Amino acid sequence: MKIYITRQIPETGIKLLRDAGHDAVISSKSGVLTREELLSELHTNNPDAVLCLLTDKISGEVFDAAPNAKIFATYSVGFGHIDLEAAKQRGVKITNTPGVLTDSVAEYAVGMICALTKRIPEADTFTRAGKYKGWAPTLLLGTDLKGKTLGLLGAGRIGSRVAEIMNKGFGMKIVYFDIKENDFVSNELNGEFKSSPEAVLSVADVVTVHVPLLDSTRGMLNAELLSKMKKSAYLVNTSRGPVIDEDALVNALKSNSIKGAALDVFENEPKLADGLTELTNVIITPHIASATEETRGKMSEMAAENIIDFFAGKEPQNKVL
Ligand code: GLV
Repeated sequence: MKIYITRQIPETGIKLLRDAGHDAVISSKSGVLTREELLSELHTNNPDAVLCLLTDKISGEVFDAAPNAKIFATYSVGFGHIDLEAAKQRGVKITNTPGVLTDSVAEYAVGMICALTKRIPEADTFTRAGKYKGWAPTLLLGTDLKGKTLGLLGAGRIGSRVAEIMNKGFGMKIVYFDIKENDFVSNELNGEFKSSPEAVLSVADVVTVHVPLLDSTRGMLNAELLSKMKKSAYLVNTSRGPVIDEDALVNALKSNSIKGAALDVFENEPKLADGLTELTNVIITPHIASATEETRGKMSEMAAENIIDFFAGKEPQNKVL
């Protein structure tokens, strides 16, 4: 079968596809495909399957440009970039890559929590700028985490792993909101389940976001919800940018109505909200929470295996739809 891959990914998955006898064709362009480029590449290649990325907007017209493609396998756990309704109408199968990136993203979120509350990037910039003139009692004071409250918005695979590390390793109390209670977080970590995001935001010292991007979560953290956070609280987002109203967040950070934020994802990636880069109480990184050598290789293999299973007549393991 002809598998069109929208951008070069780690070789391991491509090799699996070729070893299984498939013709794996990688995009002829470099970088993220524009809408027009994606449509034209699909018209030219007429693939039987597409291996896409989170930077590809997969809409009805994209499915129509590849009428023979019965499966779109995304090289990501998130699938907010895919129009599932349009896929359903056309009977196209959608798969993702869950599980293999849980630890990488959770570890990254923990890293961001530490970097933010201990002011590590700020201290690095300060030292490099030659401003370190000797130890001082109140230089760059940060915040302790032990005994403080970690608020989770989303307690799925990644959120609950962050909660586990922060509770067992750092001694933080856990409060969380999700659409349903998570037994592990409630029972093993003594996490307190709250029935609304407000209830988490109003008590948490650090809020970490781990919800998928869905109609119900888009713009969820708006100005009103952000105003419920404590003035001394921090916000960390390693999920999807559009979950937070970025302009409202910039305002909250500017007016110090929250203490700081660490963002690995943005509302209109790769564009950043006006004013974000001028703020010193924010850490920004380029959507790399899952970017480890190990994980990106496994994601490549998993996306390939979903396609291989599909053409072998088996149900792909990581079916979204
Ligand atoms: C990364 O953001 C992913 O969804 O895999």
